[in-house]
Amino acid sequence: MEENRIEIDRDLCDGCWLCVTVCPIGNISLIKGNASVSGGESLFCGHCGSVCPQAAIHITGLDEEMSQYKTFTAEKQWLPPGKYNTSALVQLMASRRSCRRFTDQLIDRAMLEDLLKIGVIAPSGTNSQLWTFTILPTRRAVASLAEQVASFFARLNTTAEKTLLRFILKLIGKGELDAYYREYYPKVKGAFEEWYRSGKDRLFHGSTAAILVGSRPGASCPAEDALLATQNILLGAHSMGLGSCLIGYAVAAMKKDPSIQKSIGIPSEEEIHAAIALGYPMKSISV
Ligand SMILES: Cc1cc2nc3c(=O)[nH]c(=O)nc-3n(C[C@H](O)[C@H](O)[C@H](O)COP(=O)(O)O)c2cc1C
Repeated sequence: MEENRIEIDRDLCDGCWLCVTVCPIGNISLIKGNASVSGGESLFCGHCGSVCPQAAIHITGLDEEMSQYKTFTAEKQWLPPGKYNTSALVQLMASRRSCRRFTDQLIDRAMLEDLLKIGVIAPSGTNSQLWTFTILPTRRAVASLAEQVASFFARLNTTAEKTLLRFILKLIGKGELDAYYREYYPKVKGAFEEWYRSGKDRLFHGSTAAILVGSRPGASCPAEDALLATQNILLGAHSMGLGSCLIGYAVAAMKKDPSIQKSIGIPSEEEIHAAIALGYPMKSISV
């Protein structure tokens, strides 16, 4: 892969200073009226290039394909603060609601990949971008994960039913099981009963796809990075006609039982921060 480098076209640069002002680490200065890389290091965040009104700055080695979408066309032009329609933005944010009823229609792979590209527009700590995305593209793949998560919670509920165990653990300062028993046990028990009775997937709500968002070691802010990308994906999904729902139960189970993550081929050094159920919402009852 091509090395990251900042290239500034001196003929195009009109010395407007914008790039100098936005660089987070003071890597660019004006020298003889032209922007020049003067610092020793770069985060390669591309901020200088995106604000340059002359398109004079190019960062080599950035994956151009990551900003090329297959299912829609995106305006490339960078908008300065105040130039976007706040009303439209807030309407999108407020219109995204968790979807818990999906049709059987599969989501095209291209659409799922576009969602990842929308995800990685998000900011990340020191621009490390050490996030990971795992696509479960079919109902079968989602159902298989749902079964493993359900099996984890079935075991947890069986353990939580042991009154003496809860009491002893609490006595030695380990009150988590008791807290779980009081807060979640009845909800999980009820969901299982309904699941067995109706066959309705109470975890992923019958979604036909899912995206798991995680982080690799070395990120300065792994959870924050992953969750910011997640919010982008949720908003993108809504705008593209998809329903979405975060599934916290899946994340909790994967954190406690590493075998679940392993079974879907996610390396153990990755940590999952969000599980997003995705699919086409049932029209009349999409929230
Ligand atoms: C971290 C997190 C975990 C969640 N986990 C679940 C879940 O396991 N199952 C579910 O149906 N909804 C889950 N939700 C969705 C919330 O219930 C939902 O966002 C909340 O009720 C607000 O509704 P809205 O998303 O429609 O605005 C989760 C939301 C968040 C932020």
